[in-house]
Amino acid sequence: MQISTPYRVLTLILIPLLLAACATDEEDISALRVRSVGIALGLTGDPTTLRILPSITDPKAQLGMKLFYSKALGLDQDAACASCHHPALGGNDDLSLPIGVDAENPDLVGPGRFHLSTAPNWDGGPTVSRNAPTTFNSGMWDRVMTYDGRIESLDKAVNFNGSPGDFGAGIVTPDSLTDDFGTLLADPNAGGNLPTALARFPVTSVEDMRGFDFLTLVTNDDVRNELAARLAAYAGWRAEFAAVYGDEIITYDRIAEALGEYVRSQVFVNNAWKAFMLGDDDAISEAARRGALLFMLPTRVDGASCITCHRSDFFTDEFFHVLAMPQIGRGKGDGDTGTDDFGRFRVTAADADLYAFRTPSLLNVTETGPWGHAGAYTTLEAVIRHHLDPQTAVDNYDFNQLEPSIVSSGQTDEMRLNTQKALDKLATNRLIGILSIPILELTDEQVGYLVEFLKTLTDPCVQDRACLAPWIPDDTVADPDGLRLNAVDANLNPL
Ligand code: HEC
Ligand code: HEC
Repeated sequence: MQISTPYRVLTLILIPLLLAACATDEEDISALRVRSVGIALGLTGDPTTLRILPSITDPKAQLGMKLFYSKALGLDQDAACASCHHPALGGNDDLSLPIGVDAENPDLVGPGRFHLSTAPNWDGGPTVSRNAPTTFNSGMWDRVMTYDGRIESLDKAVNFNGSPGDFGAGIVTPDSLTDDFGTLLADPNAGGNLPTALARFPVTSVEDMRGFDFLTLVTNDDVRNELAARLAAYAGWRAEFAAVYGDEIITYDRIAEALGEYVRSQVFVNNAWKAFMLGDDDAISEAARRGALLFMLPTRVDGASCITCHRSDFFTDEFFHVLAMPQIGRGKGDGDTGTDDFGRFRVTAADADLYAFRTPSLLNVTETGPWGHAGAYTTLEAVIRHHLDPQTAVDNYDFNQLEPSIVSSGQTDEMRLNTQKALDKLATNRLIGILSIPILELTDEQVGYLVEFLKTLTDPCVQDRACLAPWIPDDTVADPDGLRLNAVDANLNPL
């Protein structure tokens, strides 16, 4: 039988249309497709390729570990780096806002850590104004560290962790001087990489580690020199430094370098996503594959475009964006009330940077909550929902998810006002075309897929105390002045 010409033309048009419809209804979620989308975006699953990173068994990283857990680096001897960055808690403290000095029980780390009510400056809430990020994978940052990037590489060379060595342009820190035009200059004492530069500062922060006493020490270097001199009074510490550096001299430069090597040795990237990208089709579930596609595909083909900011195998662009996540806690002294946090603007004073915070890495993200620069969100679903519709998420924000000590200071109204200013800034940014989170509607199912994908970014080692043991000192590791933080949880069980 002969098909009439008009009919034949119609079929020629209809068949491809039908096929296209089928293709969108039943999206190809095969392992092959998902992996090739990743490869097309430059992903390999392994952010360590071409990086030179220390092992935890290296002598300098071992010295760094002893220092990281020592309350001797707090002037009042009551806070260590590990008070806020404990490997057993995901390289942070599981708190929205950390508590550094003047804890009721300095050795209690994580939920249950409270301020001594007799401490100076005590008003019931944590004195530290930003969430503690994880120290895991610190060796992967190339541009900036901290939420506002006040530790910043001038080279930004890929794979160099902040400095390409002797001929590099250096690293800017809060100690940096400015030139005649107000541009921040490299800090000559910053050291060889971003984590080392960073390790010079927690000890100088009153709330983190310095404490409210010893006010005769004026400059940051006064504090560092005092700490180095105190360690040098112990033969045990001198021997530790001699074993690494060949002589007994203890300077803060050496302390910072060792601390830097210790956090750089915290490489936790062996996750299911990596195994999948390396060819193991069954390493991640079908739901996770659907989530991966949403994460990677642009919005014009029904993706969620997460990868525009959470870019590369480290899942961050190391740039700053306004997301207007709830501003809780006492803030950074910004705004009319002093309880606001202007983010990147604090460093650059550029209007475009107002309320912008650095994109976090998403490696091990299931273990690094609460999330957001102030730790306002306590579930990953809520973080994702915030990205989709920030205004609604903030309007419905429930302060009850926070530790009562954060909200009892009666500041919820101020917190809402501050957050609304960030939301308004986001709206302005969108109008003037600054890259912002896209306005998106996803079903609950799709949000669930994204969460399943995020779960594949967690290295099982960080959920396993035995696997983490090399990064946590035990009785066999020297404790030269008896000031080791032997961290316990709220039930006083060792962490
Ligand atoms: C009181 C809690 C506290 C203590 C103690 C503390 N930190 Fe932190 N740490 C933080 C907070 C909060 C931030 C984020 C600061 C910001 O963004 O403004 C941070 C940031 C960092 C970062 C940057 C992570 C990133 O993603 O950019 C590293 C690395 C780090 N700390 C290492 C250390 C070391 C080393 C010590 C000890 C010398 C230390 N910290 C002591 C709370 C603490
Ligand atoms: C425009 C850039 C941008 C896009 C697009 C984006 N994010 Fe983010 N994301 C950020 C920034 C910036 C933060 C930190 C905000 C803060 O701290 O206040 C963040 C925070 C997060 C966090 C919390 C991590 C932590 O450690 O606190 C998660 C989880 C997250 N994003 C997942 C996603 C997912 C899933 C998507 C896609 C739906 C996405 N992001 C799209 C910039 C972006």
